[in-house]
Amino acid sequence: MLHKIRVSEVGKYVGQEITLHGWLYNKRSSGKLHFLQLRDGSGIIQCVMFKGDVSPEQFELGDKVTQESSIIVTGTVREDKRSPLGFELGVKNLEVVQMAKDYPISPKEHGPDFLMQNRHLWLRSARQTAILRVRDEIIFAIREYLHNNGFILSDSPILTPAACEGTSTLFETDYFGEKAFLSQSGQLYGEASAMALGKTYCFGPTFRAEKSKTRHLTEFWMVEPEVAYNDLDDNMDLAEDFIKHIVAQVLKNRAADLKTLERDTSKLQATVEKKFPRIDYTDAIEILHKKGNDTPWGGDIGGDEETLLGEDYDTPIMIHRYPTAIKAFYMKRDPKNPKVVLAVDVIGPEGAGEIIGGSEREADYDALLTRIKEQGLDPEGYSWYLDLRKYGSVPHAGFGMGIERMVRWVCGLQHVRETIPFARMMDKIHP
Ligand code: 4AD
Ligand code: MG
Repeated sequence: MLHKIRVSEVGKYVGQEITLHGWLYNKRSSGKLHFLQLRDGSGIIQCVMFKGDVSPEQFELGDKVTQESSIIVTGTVREDKRSPLGFELGVKNLEVVQMAKDYPISPKEHGPDFLMQNRHLWLRSARQTAILRVRDEIIFAIREYLHNNGFILSDSPILTPAACEGTSTLFETDYFGEKAFLSQSGQLYGEASAMALGKTYCFGPTFRAEKSKTRHLTEFWMVEPEVAYNDLDDNMDLAEDFIKHIVAQVLKNRAADLKTLERDTSKLQATVEKKFPRIDYTDAIEILHKKGNDTPWGGDIGGDEETLLGEDYDTPIMIHRYPTAIKAFYMKRDPKNPKVVLAVDVIGPEGAGEIIGGSEREADYDALLTRIKEQGLDPEGYSWYLDLRKYGSVPHAGFGMGIERMVRWVCGLQHVRETIPFARMMDKIHP
């Protein structure tokens, strides 16, 4: 059989007898009835077993079957206006594939440490599967947008000989006697691809030895578009349109999951409809001062500052032209003011923090070489990257979007640990 019927499609089979393959999510019984909640990863359906409809052995099996036992249920689809799904199944037959014994995660509340230790099982819960489906939708919308807008996927290597985002968060490994690092960003290779393909993106896991335990993962997924002949304004236009498309697709296709997550979607709706404010870093510092935050010009805009700046808006905001001294070597300095670079960070509303970081790139050979040296990096390691400025250099720009940051905001989650199937953090490598 090419395709087994799934819970998400039972609406097409009202009045018909179908077979569903899944697991027992939860159960309650009252006299002549067993209410078996079957989950199959696409949704949860209530299967009603009436004593009069089945054999005594079957009814007893319905009584004995335990949480997370694997089950195959045959029955008739009925409309049920009261259930969240809108349908239920009148059971004709129950088959237990494997009887689960003492499933550790009962429907009662558990603490986050216990749940993270049992992440391999916690993934099965209604909330976690909803998050994973939203994550899938986000990734699909990303690929769809880029493909439909002429971007060609050209992935960057994971094992790399040089740093992209500073040397303090590198994971080092031995590469047959040579030092290698897990990639912090595919960008530098993405720039080479952009000179070949014009519009390109890479999308893969990236690694940073971050010591923070809240917003940062040590292994996260990043999508990085890069476009030849784009400047900072083009880059901001692209970032805004990209986010609007992703959020619109989630609102359209994953409304039920957002409901499961009890997500207030008003700010997501605003994100699709309204223009994102673009704020110069220098103005942002002034706004912070007015709000009683004394970050000096030249200082980093951290989580608290991002929340203060974002609180006046119900869409993401774009902060551009950061001080040169606090940004990466590859960013182009503003020809009107070399103290700032043509960088942009997109900050999500509702305390979501930085979702996108990007910039126009330094396209001039001498200026780039100077910046590499200024930052104490070895020009030898970047000789191939400098080549891109020797042979047909053009203005170009791009950005990186952190998938987990995007999932965290769209789902309205507190912790980044729930945004990825198996989070890797400073204190977390099991399971
Ligand atoms: O701002 P970042 O460091 O930018 C770059 O890496 C550029 N080279 C990207 C580019 O221009 N192609 O990281 C980009 C995004 C951040 O805005 C954030 O969403 C996410 O990656 N990010 C993380 N997400 C989870 N855990 C971490 N430790 C992250 N570090 C960055
Ligand atoms: Mg950044």
